[in-house]
Amino acid sequence: MEMSHIEEVLEAIGRKTKQIPEIGLILGSGLGDLAEEITSADRVPYQSLPYFPEPTVKGHKGQFVIGGLEGKSVIAMQGRYHHYEGYSLKQVAFPVEVMKGLGIRTLIVTNAAGGINLNYSPGDLMLIHDHINMLGGSPLIGPNDDLIGPRFPDMSASYDPSLIDLAKKEADQLSVKIREGVYLATPGPQYETPAEIRMMRVMGADAVGMSTVPEVIAARHGRLQVLGISCITNMASGILDQPLSHTEVMETADRVKENFTRLVKGIVKNI
Ligand code: HPA
Repeated sequence: MEMSHIEEVLEAIGRKTKQIPEIGLILGSGLGDLAEEITSADRVPYQSLPYFPEPTVKGHKGQFVIGGLEGKSVIAMQGRYHHYEGYSLKQVAFPVEVMKGLGIRTLIVTNAAGGINLNYSPGDLMLIHDHINMLGGSPLIGPNDDLIGPRFPDMSASYDPSLIDLAKKEADQLSVKIREGVYLATPGPQYETPAEIRMMRVMGADAVGMSTVPEVIAARHGRLQVLGISCITNMASGILDQPLSHTEVMETADRVKENFTRLVKGIVKNI
C-alpha cells in the first residue's frame, strides 16, 4: 500500500532519531532559544523532510529538536509556519500531525500577541483559555483522515483545563504574573486597524495574533491535550498613541524570554 505523507515524514524522522517524545512544544517569537536547552538533542531540519517547506520569517529557525527537557522527552518546533507566508492552513498544521504520529500526547504552543484587553500590558504572559478563529478557513477542510480524528471534532475545552490549572500553579510558584484570556487569530501579515481591534474586543478577544489556531485545531482533531501561552508583546492597534512595529514585538519578546522560559520549563517538569 502507498505510504501517506505523514508516514513518509515519520520514516524520514525515524532515520534521524530513535527517541519517542511525549510532549510537543511549538516555540513562538523569542522562545526559540529554549530548544538549545534540550539535552541529547537530535535535530531534524524541516528542509530535510518531505512536504516541509522552508520557513521564511526572520528570527524563526526551521527544525525539530528532539530530546530531554526537565526529565521529559520532548519534541520542539524551533520555528513554525504561518498562513501569511503563503502556506495553506493544512501546511501550517501538518507538523502537529507529524508530532502526534511520533507519539506526543500533549502540545504546548506559544506565540506573540497584541493585547486587546485594556488591563493588559506589554510583557504580560497570557494562558489561552479559548480562541476565536478569524483565519477564514480550517486546516481540516478536505477529506477527513479518520485515523487521526473524527470529521466534526469537538472544540469545547480545547485548552485543557487541568493544564491551565497546572500552569497557574507553576506561575504562582515562580512569582510570574499570569493572565488568562481568549486569543483571536487573524491571517495578517498587516497589523489590525483600530476599528478591527474595537470589533475584536466586542467579540470577546483579549489578545490577537497570526498563528497558533491552525495547530490547535489539528491537535484537537487528534485528541491531544493542549496548553497555549501568549506573550503580550504590544498593545493592539489604536490603544496607545503610537504605531505598531515588528521591532517592538521582538524587543518585548526578548525582554520576557527569561520568565517565559522558566514558566514553560516548570510546566513541562510537572506535566
Ligand atoms: N497583532 C497581530 N499579531 C501580533 C500582534 C498584534 O498586535 N503582536 C504580535 N503579534
